[in-house]
Amino acid sequence: MLGAAAAGTLAGAAIGITGGMALAGAGRPPAAPVFEGRRRFADQVVMITGATSGIGRAAAEAFAAEGARVVFCGRREALGAQVENTIREAGGEALYIRADVREKDDIDDFVRRAVAQFGGIDLALNNAGISFSKPLHEIGADEWDDLQDTNVRGVFLSMRAQIPHMLDRGGQIIVTSSVNIDGARPGLGAYNASKRALAGLVQTAALEYAGRGLRVNGICPGATDTEMIRRQAGFMDAPDAAWNAAIGLWSRSNVSGLQRVAAPREIAAAILNMASPDMSYLNGSMIFVDGGMTASL
Ligand SMILES: NC(=O)c1ccc[n+]([C@@H]2O[C@H](COP(=O)([O-])OP(=O)(O)OC[C@H]3O[C@@H](n4cnc5c(N)ncnc54)[C@H](OP(=O)(O)O)[C@@H]3O)[C@@H](O)[C@H]2O)c1
Repeated sequence: MLGAAAAGTLAGAAIGITGGMALAGAGRPPAAPVFEGRRRFADQVVMITGATSGIGRAAAEAFAAEGARVVFCGRREALGAQVENTIREAGGEALYIRADVREKDDIDDFVRRAVAQFGGIDLALNNAGISFSKPLHEIGADEWDDLQDTNVRGVFLSMRAQIPHMLDRGGQIIVTSSVNIDGARPGLGAYNASKRALAGLVQTAALEYAGRGLRVNGICPGATDTEMIRRQAGFMDAPDAAWNAAIGLWSRSNVSGLQRVAAPREIAAAILNMASPDMSYLNGSMIFVDGGMTASL
């Protein structure tokens, strides 16, 4: 994730573009994997929070491509319909239900309707999240509450509604945390606190429900090219070329190892691998997929 200095760095990168500097990205993700023929999640019901964009959307599309029946939420209805259509046009099964993860009634309804439609939940990816970058003393109490309500309360509300439908049927929950649980960046105090809280939820649930056939794990993505970091850097309205150049430049000095940000589908691929039947011994783990970001101390 981008820290407080990042916006400045990225703005500098954008200025570099207009100044004609060579700003090609440090590297590119490999071509999209071919899912054809891999049906690891055939007929499984996969529930995802926050799949109207970014990592959640990529995961929804990838799970559906491997045979899952995907039910997902987010607040932006037009995007929800778009993701649903994309999956259906590709031959997959998807259902979008508008829900705000901060709202208990929304989440209870989301889970109730998913179970009514599909008969249960095999895997839940509790992924919805937001971020902002500000020094601690400038964070408003309402801003703090909104972030914690989305990132922590939203996961708690989701888990408490999902778990009763998952016990004794061999389910899994995967929570999207962050590379930031293993370090800090100036400006990300509220975000760090929320993502570390998720590690506590994951580990506790992993112990509480292992005896009932439910495994719980977390994924900790490194910087990933989604709306979240583009918005945080102030590049939502900038041309894609400017954004690509800026994030490429930022990655060279901020992403040790691969020196590039992840494509959402690369994080989605890791989530699918964590969820695959081969990973039956994975429980209570926070899995880092960060290109080498945390390897450098
Ligand atoms: N991008 C990164 O570098 C990075 C790194 C580590 C971890 N993560 C985590 O990855 C997760 C996904 O983020 P992303 O990077 O893919 O960003 P994104 O493209 O902004 O996606 C965030 C998703 O969360 C949903 N969401 C936000 N608030 C919500 C709410 N109150 N109720 C329901 N859905 C809500 C959004 O949908 P609506 O706006 O339609 O509601 C959207 O689908 C987050 O938990 C984030 O913290 C991201």
